[in-house]
Amino acid sequence: MLEINNYAYAYEKNKYILEKLNLKVNNGEILALVGPNGAGKTTLIKSLVGINLDFEGEVIFEQVNLKKDDINYKKLLGYVADEPMLIDYLTGRQYLNFIADVFEISMDDRKKKMEKYINLFNLQDFIDSLINTYSHGNKQKLVIVAALIHSPKLLILDEPFVGLDPQAIVILKDILKDLRKSGVIVVFSTHLLAMIEGLYDKVLFMNNKRVQLIENNKALNLEKKYMEFIESV
Ligand SMILES: Nc1ncnc2c1ncn2[C@@H]1O[C@H](COP(=O)(O)OP(=O)(O)OP(=O)(O)O)[C@@H](O)[C@H]1O
Ligand SMILES: [Mg+2]
Repeated sequence: MLEINNYAYAYEKNKYILEKLNLKVNNGEILALVGPNGAGKTTLIKSLVGINLDFEGEVIFEQVNLKKDDINYKKLLGYVADEPMLIDYLTGRQYLNFIADVFEISMDDRKKKMEKYINLFNLQDFIDSLINTYSHGNKQKLVIVAALIHSPKLLILDEPFVGLDPQAIVILKDILKDLRKSGVIVVFSTHLLAMIEGLYDKVLFMNNKRVQLIENNKALNLEKKYMEFIESV
């Protein structure tokens, strides 16, 4: 379980972006973060991955308290940032091996995972080229593969669909649904409400320090619900 208890974040003293956030995500659930530009989605995500550690409150995953033991927390975590963060002078394969080394993944295991995801995302023709020759979408595919290579129990993605081609979007959605089935917690931010049908168990609407948690139900019209949230004061 991922627990967010009494979370608040201020960039400067008393200038809060987010406050009073309490949330639980169970194993095998997907949480989508939805809100206008500047609502604080990336701010929250950067806390959940241990970059913005100077938050108020607690973040706990599988009994590991992020503030108290961020190394063990991060061992369980896969993270896709809103901009691909890569090492330009490595090839895609070298980069994936570097990440697999960091997470101490066996040669056998990484080979299987790399083959699977390189094929799924059609990266075969690019994987041995330098990353600085990649298109934006292929960089995005590579950071997604890198986040999956160590089989994270908690996967956090900031606008992961941006830049992906239509086929890769379908593939990524399927991967996230498979991870959900295997008990992984997935948290992602998106602006694409029409596209995430079937891809969430909970949605957190965020705007102007206000939040609303939506639980999935089959009759839910997410776009309508979001407009009501945005228009309510
Ligand atoms: N280092 C910083 N110092 C001050 N304010 C910041 C800083 N970083 C972000 N902000 C502000 O915090 C607010 C939340 O930004 P954040 O990037 O979390 O939004 P977001 O929901 O991810 O938006 P988007 O949909 O555009 O990605 C914005 O108003 C932003 O300008
Ligand atoms: Mg953002």
